[in-house]
Amino acid sequence: MRILLTLVLFFVFQAQAANPAAVRAEHGMVVSRSALASQAGVAIMKSGGNAIDAAVATGFALAVAYPSAGNLGGGGLAVIRLADGTVVTLDHRETAPGKASRDMFLDGNGAVIPGMSRQSHAASGVPGTVDGLLVLLEKYGTKTRQEVMAEAIRLARDGFPLSKDMADQFAEVLGAMRNYPASLAIFTRNGEPYREGDIWKQPDLAQTLERIAEEGRDGFYKGRVADLIVAEMGRGNGLISLEDLANYRSVWREPIHGAYRGHEIWGMPPPSSGGVLIVEMLNMLEPHDLAGLSRDSAPAIHLMIEAERRAYADRSEHLGDPDFFPVPIAKLLSKDYARGRFADFRVDQASPSETIAAGKWPAESLETTHFSVVDAAGNAVALTTTLNSGFGNRIVVTGAGFLLNNEMDDFSIKENTANQYGLIGREANSIESGKRMLSSMSPTIVTKDDKPFLITGSPGGSTIITTVLQVIVNVIDHGMNIADAVARPRYHHQWQPDSVMYDAGAIPPETIKSLEAMGHKGFRMFPFGGLGDANSILIEDGELHGMKDPRNEGLAAGY
Ligand code: GLY
Repeated sequence: MRILLTLVLFFVFQAQAANPAAVRAEHGMVVSRSALASQAGVAIMKSGGNAIDAAVATGFALAVAYPSAGNLGGGGLAVIRLADGTVVTLDHRETAPGKASRDMFLDGNGAVIPGMSRQSHAASGVPGTVDGLLVLLEKYGTKTRQEVMAEAIRLARDGFPLSKDMADQFAEVLGAMRNYPASLAIFTRNGEPYREGDIWKQPDLAQTLERIAEEGRDGFYKGRVADLIVAEMGRGNGLISLEDLANYRSVWREPIHGAYRGHEIWGMPPPSSGGVLIVEMLNMLEPHDLAGLSRDSAPAIHLMIEAERRAYADRSEHLGDPDFFPVPIAKLLSKDYARGRFADFRVDQASPSETIAAGKWPAESLETTHFSVVDAAGNAVALTTTLNSGFGNRIVVTGAGFLLNNEMDDFSIKENTANQYGLIGREANSIESGKRMLSSMSPTIVTKDDKPFLITGSPGGSTIITTVLQVIVNVIDHGMNIADAVARPRYHHQWQPDSVMYDAGAIPPETIKSLEAMGHKGFRMFPFGGLGDANSILIEDGELHGMKDPRNEGLAAGY
């Protein structure tokens, strides 16, 4: 039996050596999880818009065409590099409602109320996506709201044929939607599951989008849509108030900046943990000759896992919303700190993670979605957006046609208690009214010779950060083209649980044996079809190479 398994894994490993090719283009490129959304973005650039216009068009189109993670009712994070070299980031992460409190998901005995932070009206933070996309457009776009939203409105109003992937996603989530008539009205055809090829229309969502196009942020955060959100809260235990909605604001934040082997890394600062951890891990790796090690060898994977283990341990203690907790960003980013943190690294032995709490692997697929955009002038956008779980808390705002997030679960709802991604946290990420929950979303732009080089990011909860790290290392250290760097099977370690999760074919069987001999343990194949979905663009000699992650549907569209 063991020999058979070894043979199967060997052939999976071999089979994955041949990847689909990247799409090449000269002027502009959008790579996203939805072909319709990528096409909406590229059409805007073809009509004279820039990468920011295209990103906003793609973001609104994803809210229609990829509803498990594209959204109006969630939040996102964006890293933007302008053609003049300026790098900015826009945090449009959700906030805890005004009435939220530290122990809101605990019962009278201090025990976690099962499921409440994920599957209830109270699981929703105040949505940030609409404000974020509109602020991006106002500050750096060139097109009108009507222009960038026209395709999203058309797709919602006239509908589009469902792919098999989408129909399957809907079928899987229907059980979790059974108590929510507005959700069932949208995700079934009169109670029957949709099938591939059915035309899917969303008239309520079309009206909400039209309202936003006409009135701007007030079309969502005030008036009828805000009233509908608050009415929805009243159908359960929801906390979002009219005041919370009116007060929501995106925040421009200083990017995380690091340097790695002649490249500049530009990432998302807290409340994302992604930018800090990626730079911290690259700093730990830099003194080591990763390029001299075969990518799938035990020494290379050991090195990566040990960097991941230490960085994720720092995440649980130090990372949270910087407006509420003093995150030691400069220290975590310093090369001196990384040297000290990695001083106990042993080339031949795993360092066991301390046992602080029983973490667990995720019990659900890891939703969220990332897209990358570049235009002819050299503006670049990396934008990751999420409802947290697939289809958020599965609750559609009655009459407004969009799903709500369950982002409150990204807070540490109780010290050292694992969230859905197995991540644990403490004070830094405790719930407070108005605070942003810690994210792993890691939209990242790498520059070289002061020009955009790599635009990347991924969904995948806690695995986002290690996915992005591997794309960067695959390109910079292992010299891979973008197709191979994205398609290559991945692996993941997050300190707790002390265990390695991997894509089929990511770690050859003999390498697993060597790693186990060093003390690495808990090797588990990822159960949901592939770690991450790293829709990326690489720019070489002025040519754009867009790679849709082959683990999922989507499109690299360029011209
Ligand atoms: N909701 C996933 C994340 O932000 O990390």
